[in-house]
Amino acid sequence: MAGMMTQLTTHTTYAGGFTTQPNEIDIDALPIQGEIPRWLSGVLLRNGPAQFEVGSMSYRHWFDGLAMLHSFRFAEGGVAYKNRYLRTDAYLKDNATGKINYRGFAVDPCRTLFKDVMTLLAPLPKDSRGPNANVNITRLEGEFIAMTEIPIPVAFDAQTLATRGIAHYKGDNIAGQVTTAHPHYDARRKLGYNYMTHVGLGFHYNFYSLRGRKRSLVASLPVAKPGYMHSFGMSERYLILSEFSFRLQGALPLAFGDQPFIKNFEWQPDSDSVFYVVDKETGALVATATADPFFAFHHINAYDVEGAVVVDLCAYDDPSVIDEAFLEHVRADDAPAPGSGEFRRYTVPLNGGRATYTTIPDLRFELPRIYYERYNMQPYRYVYGVGAAPDGGFLDHLVKVDVESGSVLRWGETGCYAGEPVFVPTPDGTAEDDGVILSVILDARAQTSFLLVVDARDMREIGRACVPQHIPFGFHGGFYREA
Ligand SMILES: [Fe+2]
Repeated sequence: MAGMMTQLTTHTTYAGGFTTQPNEIDIDALPIQGEIPRWLSGVLLRNGPAQFEVGSMSYRHWFDGLAMLHSFRFAEGGVAYKNRYLRTDAYLKDNATGKINYRGFAVDPCRTLFKDVMTLLAPLPKDSRGPNANVNITRLEGEFIAMTEIPIPVAFDAQTLATRGIAHYKGDNIAGQVTTAHPHYDARRKLGYNYMTHVGLGFHYNFYSLRGRKRSLVASLPVAKPGYMHSFGMSERYLILSEFSFRLQGALPLAFGDQPFIKNFEWQPDSDSVFYVVDKETGALVATATADPFFAFHHINAYDVEGAVVVDLCAYDDPSVIDEAFLEHVRADDAPAPGSGEFRRYTVPLNGGRATYTTIPDLRFELPRIYYERYNMQPYRYVYGVGAAPDGGFLDHLVKVDVESGSVLRWGETGCYAGEPVFVPTPDGTAEDDGVILSVILDARAQTSFLLVVDARDMREIGRACVPQHIPFGFHGGFYREA
């Protein structure tokens, strides 16, 4: 592959997590320390950026690295590992030409290439292999897909991690160019939900439900200046769009300008953030509640209470974390670490009042996960995440947060940096935390990574499976019993 001779730049910090991993490997039995529970049977699939340079060019932002899939397959106490780049337009063309060809989250390809880049508003060429879907993984009618914020999922084979190509929706007449890679699933209704921002003569938030591959419009809300939103909330009754005070400045620059995607959005410290609450059954906008300006990537959970919706997020005072995740910044030994979010529980009133929040002091974390299958849309007690010291540390431990009491349990080890914790319940468990947490950990001392298994009840390590190379920091993934 062109331009992939990068070496790890440091032995002592987390910069290795932002360093290209050129090797695609298959290992049937990773060396194990401790024990991997024998009941753990299935596969942990992960997605994230793993190539940051092509030829002499470099992506500038963590969020723009080329997507790599990872699988950790568990059987009878053993773990097999496999990793493959997602063969998308960006991966294939960038590596063939040794240049960055496509506009991404924060990429601005040079002007001479611009006339043939895939802009957000242009149709894909017929032979397209899809966008650089490096954010998350889910299933679409049984088929595994990789997702990003361009609403074109890329299918892959969960056994081989081979890229299949664009996954198509059926009966689709719902418009939109920007979406979230965090769809929700409502098990009672047997419906998925997501939304897209449509950029046309005006702007709309188009909420839709998903049954199998068929999308159906739930609501279309006109909006003057749409916000940048990485996820949304869902309660039993409502979809909750948290529009942060970080808003698009116009359609024309987004469509035809040469600015990177995220630079089209402007922080508005004097303009309220807004919660839009949409009824899942009727599509009616039942409430629009304002709040002091804030920003977030990730919703944690939401549920209905009398006269209000409780909306939990991992929140920031402003979106400066986006600038702090430029590679130039995160790779610098002397730069402060990117900030992390705080737990905020917003109460969003349905009577037109203002939304207010409570928080948990001295806690900074990101990549929050709950026991989603059972507690999504319900009152719940535990959220797991990747923790950072409030005074500026970087994602160097795992946290288990009791959102009722505010107490926090942690797992950490010197020189180790953690990835998103995925909760897997024990087969016969009854308590909310009966299960294990799976997390990919970068060991900066050894320049390798390992898959960590901790007991979710006390956050003590049960075992680890060691990978003989480093795994760049990823974003999201999931555990699948059958794949
Ligand atoms: Fe995310």
